[in-house]
Amino acid sequence: MGEGKVGLSSLKGRHFVDALDLSQAEYDLLFSLAEDIMESPQDYAHCCSGKILATIFYEPSTRTRLSFEAAMLRLGGRVITVADAATSSVAKGESLADTIRTVAGYADLIVLRHPKEGAAKLAAMYSPVPLINGGDGAREHPTQTLTDLFTIKRYKGRLEGLTVAFCGDLRYGRTVHSLIRALALREGIRFILISPAELRLPRAIVEEILETNPGLGLVETEDLEVGLSEADVLYMTRIQKERFFNEEDYIRLRDSYILTRRKLEGAKENLLVMHPLPRVTEITHDVDEDPRAIYFQQARNGMFVRMALIASLLGVV
Ligand code: NCD
Repeated sequence: MGEGKVGLSSLKGRHFVDALDLSQAEYDLLFSLAEDIMESPQDYAHCCSGKILATIFYEPSTRTRLSFEAAMLRLGGRVITVADAATSSVAKGESLADTIRTVAGYADLIVLRHPKEGAAKLAAMYSPVPLINGGDGAREHPTQTLTDLFTIKRYKGRLEGLTVAFCGDLRYGRTVHSLIRALALREGIRFILISPAELRLPRAIVEEILETNPGLGLVETEDLEVGLSEADVLYMTRIQKERFFNEEDYIRLRDSYILTRRKLEGAKENLLVMHPLPRVTEITHDVDEDPRAIYFQQARNGMFVRMALIASLLGVV
């Protein structure tokens, strides 16, 4: 297959637990492969034949699990799944390490979503087959980052020199944590972080990104309008209800930001409005009609870039 894929063999057999497990060059190679898959799906329709993907999801999911499963099916592979901890032996008290060692005996690749931070890292230590983190508590969600970067690249043509505003729950939003850490490495990036004081980006992440990229522009504000006028990309997020310790705090904060068609009037013509989804109240439905709203395309892109990831980790491209 084409020249663009030279170098992807470095991914064979690896885990993908943290957004920084891939180099910038590896991300870029995966994006070219995903584009090739989008353009010529028939060339890849059988490349995973005989392979099995296991999806183990101990937290709710629509997009991550189904896009992985659709990705594997479109590559000609097959899928086995645990979509609910209550129906698996976790309910009997089995440890994650034992579950992973068992499932790795059945499957060639595992995607795990788990409520505990660090669960994917632990699972990877016990997995003889590539393990992909499908979200571990509030920590990381690296394949959403793959999806998000691929989407920005497709619509903007680049990942450098952009002003990216993140809005909502920056404290608990794992998609934000992964994406910020990966984007911070790109040149000329500026972040506008919009959140209520209680839901600011964790200080450890702020320190880390400023250390890895001392030239990084970073502004924190509580005002959505400030970010809206300057942003090239606006990344909206859901307030992460399931991570709150008490319901009152959630109710008080849940409607902190609501993006409407009217608010978009002050934004750039070529802004990208992104959201990892699911959306609750933070984007009104009238925004969906605005050509700048690309969150459903973003979700679809996720399937193609996951096809590229699966094929690369299995070493079949
Ligand atoms: C996100 C997640 O699970 O972290 N969803 C997704 O995978 N697209 C975002 C969210 O739940 O808010």
